[in-house]
Amino acid sequence: MRNFKHIYFFLICSFTILLLSSCADENPMAINPAIIPAPLSQQINEGVFEMNNSTGIVSTDDEFTQVADFLKSYVEYGSSIQLKSKESKNAIIFKRDTSIINLEGYQLNITSGGIEILSNSAKGAFYAVQSLRQLLPATFENGSYKNSTVIIQNLNIKDAPQFKYRGMHLDVGRHFFPVDFIKKYIDLISMLKMNTFHWHLTEDQGWRIEIKKYPKLQEIAAYRNETLIGHYSDQPHKFDGEKYGGFYTQEQIKDIVKYASERQVTIIPEIEMPGHAQAAISAYPELGCTGTPIDVATKWGVFEDIYCPKEATFKFLEDVIDEVIALFPGKYIHIGGDEAPKTRWKNCAHCQALIKKESLKDEHGLQSYFITRMEKYINSKGKQIIGWDEILEGGLAPNATVMSWRGTQGAVIAAKQHHDVILTPGSHCYFDHYQSTKEGEPLAIGGFLPLEKVYSFNPIPKELTIEESKYVLGAQGNVWTEYMKDSKQVEYMAFPRMIALSEVVWSENKNKDFENFKNRLEFYQERLDAREVNYANHLYEVLGKSEIKEGVLFMNLKTNSDTKTIRYTLDGTAPNINSTVYKESLLINKNVTINAASFDTKKQVSDIFNETVKMHKAVGKKITFNVLPSEKYNAGGNSALINGISGSDKRYGDDQWLGFDGKDVEITIDLGKEMNLNSIATRFNNQKGSWIYAPSQVIVTFPGNEEFLPIELEESEEKIVDLKLETKIFTRFVKLKLVNFGVIPDGKQGAGHKPWIFIDEIIIE
Ligand code: ACM
Ligand code: ZN
Repeated sequence: MRNFKHIYFFLICSFTILLLSSCADENPMAINPAIIPAPLSQQINEGVFEMNNSTGIVSTDDEFTQVADFLKSYVEYGSSIQLKSKESKNAIIFKRDTSIINLEGYQLNITSGGIEILSNSAKGAFYAVQSLRQLLPATFENGSYKNSTVIIQNLNIKDAPQFKYRGMHLDVGRHFFPVDFIKKYIDLISMLKMNTFHWHLTEDQGWRIEIKKYPKLQEIAAYRNETLIGHYSDQPHKFDGEKYGGFYTQEQIKDIVKYASERQVTIIPEIEMPGHAQAAISAYPELGCTGTPIDVATKWGVFEDIYCPKEATFKFLEDVIDEVIALFPGKYIHIGGDEAPKTRWKNCAHCQALIKKESLKDEHGLQSYFITRMEKYINSKGKQIIGWDEILEGGLAPNATVMSWRGTQGAVIAAKQHHDVILTPGSHCYFDHYQSTKEGEPLAIGGFLPLEKVYSFNPIPKELTIEESKYVLGAQGNVWTEYMKDSKQVEYMAFPRMIALSEVVWSENKNKDFENFKNRLEFYQERLDAREVNYANHLYEVLGKSEIKEGVLFMNLKTNSDTKTIRYTLDGTAPNINSTVYKESLLINKNVTINAASFDTKKQVSDIFNETVKMHKAVGKKITFNVLPSEKYNAGGNSALINGISGSDKRYGDDQWLGFDGKDVEITIDLGKEMNLNSIATRFNNQKGSWIYAPSQVIVTFPGNEEFLPIELEESEEKIVDLKLETKIFTRFVKLKLVNFGVIPDGKQGAGHKPWIFIDEIIIE
């Protein structure tokens, strides 16, 4: 036997085909093992196990019975195979192995004589079943496997997770999702051996958990009058005028908790305090500082009406926590703690008196008092709290676990104070961010978090010593749903990034290999297809980047895989399997539309990449600036303004726009020699909600010439402001001075700050 650690499916193919060629049944072949998350060790052996109606399923320990039943139901739902609940020659046997120290670990031994699952807890047994599940055809996932026999590769897996906290979060406050979807989400989490569902149940825009003692939470706080349309940065705000909301009854929650526990998933309920409490305060205005009635929030953001730390508020929250604790058997209650503006507290006589009475330093001290007091209550009920990293401000509650979301600094500080931490930094774990720079992506909050970046995440911050890193429990993907109206959109944003994260938290960091992961992900996607999961698929998308070499424009295409071929056309038609194969940079010397896609040997496997290049006199020429564009908004490099390609109408963060922070900008283009010009045109972004304003004035000069053309731009509410100057001139140099708008006026997003200037292609004809 050969020991192939971490080799998934390259090697076994040939001999399984040989072994199975004698089999008369319609194509029963073992699946090439391609398990996600990658097991700690996997040894593939010759031969196969045949599961059929004579296969038995046996649990030799009461603790494993429910897991064995889970597997039996899975097989019998997935196929026509009926497993016998007793010993047989070719049985699947669950056994306890007390030498397995990590209770989530397991061994899965598949031989031609039977399957042995060794574990030291139901958790380990369940994870063995999840690995076995991935060795069965994807058609089992939707009950469409047709044969009466299934062939499984002989192998030995020894496996255990790297991190004990492996979580996924879902915000049901901004949008509300049905019970069936919550179950599907939990099931999908558990398939990836993740063990925690962080259920974000209360928000400014809706309270989603039934609390029997406070019926107005159901009647009032669970519903908002209407919802913002489009992106928050689209100004002025528009609303849909439709009442929206809902909540989970305690009966539904019990059912979901049971469903999760059958899948070894613990649910952590989040009850936000002291901020993100506007819905609760709308139902019970006395919980706020002012007592003034307010509505459940109808748009996104951070709101000033937060809980006032009065005795009555603590009584309310303790009552709520009592009912929450009765529903959720897990160890943790998440108390939020993030984004709580202190405006109301600063102006509240009660809050100020309390700061004095308790000798607190300031409002941050009051927040710490608030959280510590609630922690004490929750600890007294035998539970622990988790809070977002703002709970560090003003001093950490003694036993709190910190969820680090504003980068990893919160985790570093907390771990150094010997507090447990969970990593959920926006940079790697916010699955509400865009996952592709492609134009057609559904509206998202912003940002850019591609799959590869999630996969590259190491939850242990490098600032921690080995000793301190023991406080890192693991990591979690967050799914905030401002821009996810329905479960399909949640699936689109969560998948496949959740799959990458599962490997981050389960598999050994040193063994991670993105190429290998992608190959396994391709197999896994068949399972998602069978489960009708609306995952995003950017695996093989074609990315294009222009490049100027010695004054000549080239287009470079690339796809995220060595195994796929890029094919393209230049005549505006869609590429197909017979189109030209892309081998090297395309030299562009005329107007052209490039259409390209990735293909395997049989079919197209990506969307079409489309780029239109419009040649003009400045393309490939020399461009200089008095100030450099911001590093955050210069993805296309300085030549982005003279590469023949215009930027997206929607996405100023693409490769074509350049963004300048708060300054006047002077741009000089050297055409190399004097020539006749007829026009100069460009575009400015004007997304005021994002602090981006077209310049107030553009001054065009032609160094070496006397001509001087100041152009006042009228203030506009359009998202893009066009500038076109028609002038006949013979010149070598063109210089544009972009005069910054000035200071953002009161009442606007970013008031008091200088706005950004974003400029697109400078088209000189
Ligand atoms: C958060 O994203 N406000 C925790
Ligand atoms: Zn107050």
